[in-house]
Amino acid sequence: MSNPIDRRQFLKQAGVAGVGLGMAGYFNSFAKADDLGALRTGANGRITAAVIGTNGRGLAHVECLTSLPGVEITHICDVDTRAIEKGLKETAKKQQNVPQGVGDFRKVLADKSVDVVTIATPDHWHTPMAILALQAGKHVYVEKPCSQNPYEGELLLQAVKKYQRVVQMGAQRRSSAAMMQIIPEIHAGLIGKTYFAKGWYVNNRATIGHGKPAPVPDWLNYDLWQGPAPRQPYLDNLIHYNWHWRWKYGTGEALNNGTHEMDVARWALGVTWPTRVSSNGGRYAFQDDWETPDTQTISWDFPEGKTMSWEGRSCNDFPVEGRSRGTMIYGTEGSALLDGSDYIIYNKKGKIVKQAKGTEVVDPTNTISASGVGMDTAHVSNFIETVRGKAQLNCPIIEGYNSVNLLHLGNIAWRVGRELHCDPTNGHILKDSDAMKLWRRKYESGWEPKV
Ligand SMILES: NC(=O)c1ccc[n+]([C@@H]2O[C@H](COP(=O)([O-])OP(=O)(O)OC[C@H]3O[C@@H](n4cnc5c(N)ncnc54)[C@H](O)[C@@H]3O)[C@@H](O)[C@H]2O)c1
Repeated sequence: MSNPIDRRQFLKQAGVAGVGLGMAGYFNSFAKADDLGALRTGANGRITAAVIGTNGRGLAHVECLTSLPGVEITHICDVDTRAIEKGLKETAKKQQNVPQGVGDFRKVLADKSVDVVTIATPDHWHTPMAILALQAGKHVYVEKPCSQNPYEGELLLQAVKKYQRVVQMGAQRRSSAAMMQIIPEIHAGLIGKTYFAKGWYVNNRATIGHGKPAPVPDWLNYDLWQGPAPRQPYLDNLIHYNWHWRWKYGTGEALNNGTHEMDVARWALGVTWPTRVSSNGGRYAFQDDWETPDTQTISWDFPEGKTMSWEGRSCNDFPVEGRSRGTMIYGTEGSALLDGSDYIIYNKKGKIVKQAKGTEVVDPTNTISASGVGMDTAHVSNFIETVRGKAQLNCPIIEGYNSVNLLHLGNIAWRVGRELHCDPTNGHILKDSDAMKLWRRKYESGWEPKV
């Protein structure tokens, strides 16, 4: 049984129906509503955007932004000249005006004509760059994870409060029409009282081998790629993408993909900080430079009497529930399979009682998006409409922060090799100073993020 989502309902859930009221909701915990005038853009609502980091994910940012009315990409920024070319080429598919290609993001931040920046750099740059952008007065769409460690998440929250700009994390399931419909129904008791959620992600990634020192390629500004990370000689297997599996830059599969599924799990269960966290696993599939686990389970207990778990397999893609990724929610009256733009609701006997498949809204007259609203475009659109003062963020940074921190805590438990007990008011690790040392990281001198 298909259950397409009504456009009016979607717009209501997306927050755009409450034109003019949205920003107050967003800043409820941070600012008074009368501070919000400063956030409004020009009368015609035209937004200029810079996309930073355009090797992979940044190209999706370009695709989303160029499909939105009244948005112009004015800068494509990357420390890799080849990635700048890729970004310019992607922009030209839907935009006539050619953006400037820029190698140093500080030049973008200094340009007063830029309203918003989107950040799709490696994780070690997310918080430091987002804070600098906020200080320069920009609104920020930052990819997940919004921080490389829990301390940075705390800094980012302080920066949002201080600089009063719109910040959304790239957790696009928060703007999925299907999730926006079904999660409130789960909250209202669709599957009874919920008590357990399980998320998973599987892939079949190859070995990254052992890196050899090599001359820095002429297309790369390696110093600016490293930025806040302590300097290390260039290795030929680090850039691009494989930084994900080194603690100095990345956050492993847990945050690379687990952020999406566990954000949905946390949203559906209605929990925030855990009291207990444990994690098992290892780098089992290959012996190489990969430092984070390729096989990992994480478990969390919450003070509400609820539990969550995550399973990540980077090198064996045998599916769970027939899917390579997803979230199951279990309740007293049934279960829910949630997977981006799909969901299936089962009763206690395992019979399907409701489902939706790819039900994203498609409506050319839609005011928040020019065409079909896939969750990526819907999420970027929601950010842009919030900057315009016409919507409310689907993923205020506090939600991104809370979800990301669950996975950070899982990684810390795995790295110290023992169960963590946490303060349920702020997630801080209790009575374990070694684990708490991993709350933050070391920075290259001069690059420490400061609010
Ligand atoms: N929301 C999602 O579904 C989703 C999907 C994929 C990736 N991501 C996130 O997006 C980010 C980027 O992922 P990717 O796969 O594109 O990585 P990547 O390594 O392929 O690309 C990162 C790009 O950032 C550039 N970069 C590095 N430092 C820079 C700087 N100081 N200034 C400008 N550019 C800089 C690199 O040169 C590279 O071109 C990651 O944090 C990842 O977790 C999110």
